[in-house]
Amino acid sequence: MATSTSIEILDLRHFPAAMLRPVLESEGEIWKQRLHWDYRTSARLLMQYLDNHMLPGYAAVLAEQVIGYVFCVYEETKAVIGDAFAMCGQPDSSPASSAHEIEEELLKHLLELLLNSPQVDRIESQLLVHPSGSHTALFRKAGFEIYRRLFMVQRLEGLWSPPLVDLPVELEIRPWRDEDLAPTARLISEAYRGHPDSLINDQYRSVHGSMRFLNNIVRYAGCGTFSAPVSHVIVHRSSREFVAVVLGSRVSPESGHITQVCVHPEYRRRGLARMMLSVAAFCFMRQGATEISLTVTEANAQAIDLYQAEGYSCSHSFDAAVWQRNRVG
Ligand SMILES: CC(C)(COP(=O)(O)OP(=O)(O)OC[C@H]1O[C@@H](n2cnc3c(N)ncnc32)[C@H](O)[C@@H]1OP(=O)(O)O)[C@@H](O)C(=O)NCCC(=O)NCCS
Repeated sequence: MATSTSIEILDLRHFPAAMLRPVLESEGEIWKQRLHWDYRTSARLLMQYLDNHMLPGYAAVLAEQVIGYVFCVYEETKAVIGDAFAMCGQPDSSPASSAHEIEEELLKHLLELLLNSPQVDRIESQLLVHPSGSHTALFRKAGFEIYRRLFMVQRLEGLWSPPLVDLPVELEIRPWRDEDLAPTARLISEAYRGHPDSLINDQYRSVHGSMRFLNNIVRYAGCGTFSAPVSHVIVHRSSREFVAVVLGSRVSPESGHITQVCVHPEYRRRGLARMMLSVAAFCFMRQGATEISLTVTEANAQAIDLYQAEGYSCSHSFDAAVWQRNRVG
């Protein structure tokens, strides 16, 4: 499968983790510069999968060196494209072998594989580190819908006083506990009913899917290292149902990341989300973080209003891409 630049695109499962180390290190630099994110935790996880020869995807190989990769994971009949990245500045780089072109070649191979796999009904992708527009044309051409997403950042200077917690008597707020997964999954599937984010991530559409999303974030470091002291729930005192939740992870020594904030539809516009964000911010600050980031879909205007009012501003944007197979009959 040689390309015109004599770069070969080969099955990722043939390559041990050590061969991808330079690519992952080079990618880590970009995550650090662009998102203030320490990519090493994610890279370590990837390297375990690579060494087990379990990661479906492709490697771009030039002169026996891996210079790029793309991978996906399968969740039942869905494939999630986890990342696509190629190193800049190969020794003999020419305009025809730019990192962007190599990434496109890798993505083309993976899309061809997935679109021709009859058991794959849905493909989702959020290439967080790549600026919006980078690979949009390729995804659109393959029949994907594109949703622009924003990476927003709040600086934590000056947030020294504990936030004011003023709740109706029937509600209580407390930090996250291990047993909170199931009630939070119920809350997420209620909160995201008919929401733009459930078009992008179909896990939000069911309790089972929300449970998978939460397990990935809380137990498997799928989005930084989960922080139980930062994460909080608001619970109804008598029914014990969850009314609101904020989840936070550490993505580097200086940065915290809000991986989830949602409020039950019956309790909206009472300041609960604002309160949860201030509590999380205060806890991150106590841990020594100097900034917090989060991602939000551009179509989610209410959440963007909330974040801007809290002092977040957009520092980067990226695309979510979704493809759904149309079954006839
Ligand atoms: C976004 C969400 C968390 C807001 O929760 P909330 O508790 O209703 O928000 P708050 O009452 O704290 O609102 C704080 C501010 O956010 C903005 N805001 C929140 N909801 C809004 C709405 N429906 N319309 C316009 N502005 C809104 C306002 O600026 C509001 O301040 P104000 O009430 O003084 O005008 C909630 O609507 C929700 O759970 N949505 C579904 C899940 C979601 O989108 N999560 C964010 C994913 S990135």
